[in-house]
Amino acid sequence: MEIIIDKAAKQPIYIQIYEQIRLMIISGELEEGIVLPPERKLAAELGVNRSTILNAYNRLKTDEFIEARVGQGTVVSVKAENRNEIVSPKWNQLFNSRLDDFNNNMIGRLFPLLGKKDIISFALGMASPDLIPELPFESLADLTKAKANREILSQTPVAGNEELRENICTLLAKENINSTPEEIMVLTGSQQGIDIATRILIQPGDVVIVEAPTYFLALESFKAAGAKIIEVPIDNNGMLMDGIEQLFIKYHPKCIYTIPNCQNPSSYSMSLERRKKLLELAYRYDVFILEDDAYAGLDFKEKTLPTLYQMDTNGYVLLLRTFSKTICSGIRLGYMAAHKRMIAQCCYVRQNMDIHPNTISQWLICEYIKGGTYETHMKKIKEEYLKKCNLMHNELLNHAPKGLTWSKPSGGYYFWCRLPKEVRTSELLVLCIRDGVAFMPGIPFFTYECGENFMRLNFTTPTAGQIHKGIPILCANIKKLINTETKENRVSPSNFLPLY
Ligand SMILES: Cc1ncc(COP(=O)(O)O)c(C=O)c1O
Repeated sequence: MEIIIDKAAKQPIYIQIYEQIRLMIISGELEEGIVLPPERKLAAELGVNRSTILNAYNRLKTDEFIEARVGQGTVVSVKAENRNEIVSPKWNQLFNSRLDDFNNNMIGRLFPLLGKKDIISFALGMASPDLIPELPFESLADLTKAKANREILSQTPVAGNEELRENICTLLAKENINSTPEEIMVLTGSQQGIDIATRILIQPGDVVIVEAPTYFLALESFKAAGAKIIEVPIDNNGMLMDGIEQLFIKYHPKCIYTIPNCQNPSSYSMSLERRKKLLELAYRYDVFILEDDAYAGLDFKEKTLPTLYQMDTNGYVLLLRTFSKTICSGIRLGYMAAHKRMIAQCCYVRQNMDIHPNTISQWLICEYIKGGTYETHMKKIKEEYLKKCNLMHNELLNHAPKGLTWSKPSGGYYFWCRLPKEVRTSELLVLCIRDGVAFMPGIPFFTYECGENFMRLNFTTPTAGQIHKGIPILCANIKKLINTETKENRVSPSNFLPLY
């Protein structure tokens, strides 16, 4: 809720605040039922006396735009006559009612906060800005100075630039993965691949099996398609296989979504035995596998396990890869590798989304790969990420209170931590954000409610200095919550949501 006050204006400050909140309510920006920030908090934020906010709120109450509710605070509640003033579209009736099933409000509210500049963020999973390689932007500019070369900027096929697809096949061949350009589709980030595959495979009511925890935006795509999600727990060898056959028999799933390498959020990798077992079961019960390999090449161990796609001999696996985690996410480029029939179907669906991937990004990545430094770059980022991972591990060892547990990642981007039992992740986040530190709470990584005791910490984006400074702050807040006995002294996420 952004309120701007002009202390030099003739209009009293409480009226300025009253007017702006009233307008936000009338325009629909503040919807019925939203809790306004407590007076003291808003006063501190705007640098005014509490009585100023009290006067503004009193006037809004008198005019019947808000009301005080026991246990909730000050809530937007518009009286019938005032409703006539509300000229905004009827949002709830306008939006597809299925949106309610997958709108993840928590993430929506958190995102602007997590990326704020003055915050040490362990929240988002991005490549380190210091390690983004030099992409050939200047060559592109020089080349397109001549009109004849400007076709570089024109459309590409729906599946992506032919030369880039050939180069991707060459990269894959170095990992002993055989593919042809017809089996590759360049994507606007691998998230798009999850969404396309979901649209192709899932009808409302179809069952998708996922790891628990798992990447939350994949869950959002499945929910948007109306899938029934079944969670299978993981351990440090990946998805547990005991009992999975019973799930296949009972629920006839349409597909399995798995992140076998350096999983998000746990950083665990699936063992070779489990990979074999999963494929064997997929064939037996005719279940398609979506293999999300977003963290490919980021395993700190020298020897990495084969992908399910590589092991598959029957066209049951769709492999998703991205340049977001190895180059930068802003380039928005990834790819899928799958059976030709699958890729052809994906092209039909993709046409309706964005027609084809961004030509400029494709050209830049293609030239970068052709330049031959991608492997050296991968080696370098792995070394740097390993250093940061070690640093975060040591900082946690030095400052963690009793009850905070984690496994040291052997690759990938994240520490997945279990909090002491008396600490709720959402409550901890409120305290940490006040102290300028953010992390990803565990809740969105599960479909059903059980993430309150977990948090995910990213170690690739923050600098060494930020890790050094931020982890002690995070741990101090965990200790504070362990020691806070009475409920009244505790904070609630609604203390800051939906303020931002
Ligand atoms: C497992 C996983 N899949 C897909 C993505 C999406 O990546 P992209 O930027 O390529 O869309 C992410 C991003 O964090 C991820 O962690």
